[in-house]
Amino acid sequence: MADFFTIRADFLILKQKINGKRLVYLDSAATSQKPKQVIEAEKVFYETINANVARSIHYLSEKATEAYENSRKKVADFINSDSDEIIFVRNTTEAINLAANGLDFKKDDEIITTLMEHHSNIVPWQIICKKTGAKLKIVDTLPDGQLDLKQFEKFLSSKTKLVAVTHVSNVLGTINPVKEITRLAKKFGALVLIDGAQGAPHMKVDVNDIGCDFYAFSGHKLLAPTGIGVLFGKKEILDKMQPFLYGGHMIKKVTKESSTFMDAPERFEAGTANFAGAVALGAAIDYLEKIGMENVREHEKELTRYALEKLSKIKDIEIYGPKNAEIRGGVISFNIKGAHPHDVAQILDSEGIAIRSGHACAMPLMQRLGAESICRASFYIYNDKKDVDALVKGLEKVKGVLKL
Ligand code: ALA
Repeated sequence: MADFFTIRADFLILKQKINGKRLVYLDSAATSQKPKQVIEAEKVFYETINANVARSIHYLSEKATEAYENSRKKVADFINSDSDEIIFVRNTTEAINLAANGLDFKKDDEIITTLMEHHSNIVPWQIICKKTGAKLKIVDTLPDGQLDLKQFEKFLSSKTKLVAVTHVSNVLGTINPVKEITRLAKKFGALVLIDGAQGAPHMKVDVNDIGCDFYAFSGHKLLAPTGIGVLFGKKEILDKMQPFLYGGHMIKKVTKESSTFMDAPERFEAGTANFAGAVALGAAIDYLEKIGMENVREHEKELTRYALEKLSKIKDIEIYGPKNAEIRGGVISFNIKGAHPHDVAQILDSEGIAIRSGHACAMPLMQRLGAESICRASFYIYNDKKDVDALVKGLEKVKGVLKL
């Protein structure tokens, strides 16, 4: 079992004091902090083998290409897929846009998404529907924060071309039953895309077991730097898709009149890639694998259970999402009656506690919750019960300052 007490020491940023207080970072759903091992891996890459990948034949370029492809293999193993099914992109948003634009939607095709999606898994589908005449159907959430699976089943038909669903809600924390959702969608021959931005960093993901066609996630929420993300796509589907971006690196032959393109994954990686970021993502995966994704999940489950118990004792707090930590990731959104989330966040900040406040890039869900905005605390491997206790104490201060 990993020693979660020593993990915090690897995150140098967490050593500093904010407003004179121990930094309590509770905003990992927005971006995670990076351990020194990941920062070092990127630095070493730049200091020793930096060169553009898959272009030149000199020593540095060959070493850089080897490191880049090695990371692709690490990502593939991390989610139980093959290297040629891993496309490096900038982030989850780009991954979803790539799939949305690469697939061939027609008028009367139907796309199903859900009300608990982050904007990146709603807006691209809205745009594709406007362009192609396909129809978007949005599955509602139930009062307990889970998806309305009965409605989902009603929406499915032979017209369903694709189901796009989040693995874990960035607001409600709900862990969706993606394997079951995929099984149901497959009965109608639909493709399934899973937004794993809040999933892959926090639990073991096996795309083969889930059976999905696409799985998207960002490196920056998974201990890696910004600007590197992943789209997993089943090889046979990627082979039929149009590229999203066109240009260098992804071509086979270019004449004055036309061009032919490489197979996946190169076909979808036009231009110079963020290869240093990919190498650092490989180091982040090494770091997580050393802890063990099952242990990461257990640690967060324990923290979530503890936080739900402590927070629910605060008077006039409304906590959104499932009450059961078994079906919930380490994300807790809440409101305190009479307090604006930005005021809450600001007062907590004065205590060195960083949370997110606002609509959390999920406006349709905000409407459903009847809230304009929320406060959100989110956990990762470097958080502990002391952080939860600090949050609870900080919220008591909020109530004092705002005279609630
Ligand atoms: N998706 C990120 C969040 O939920 C930005 O905060």
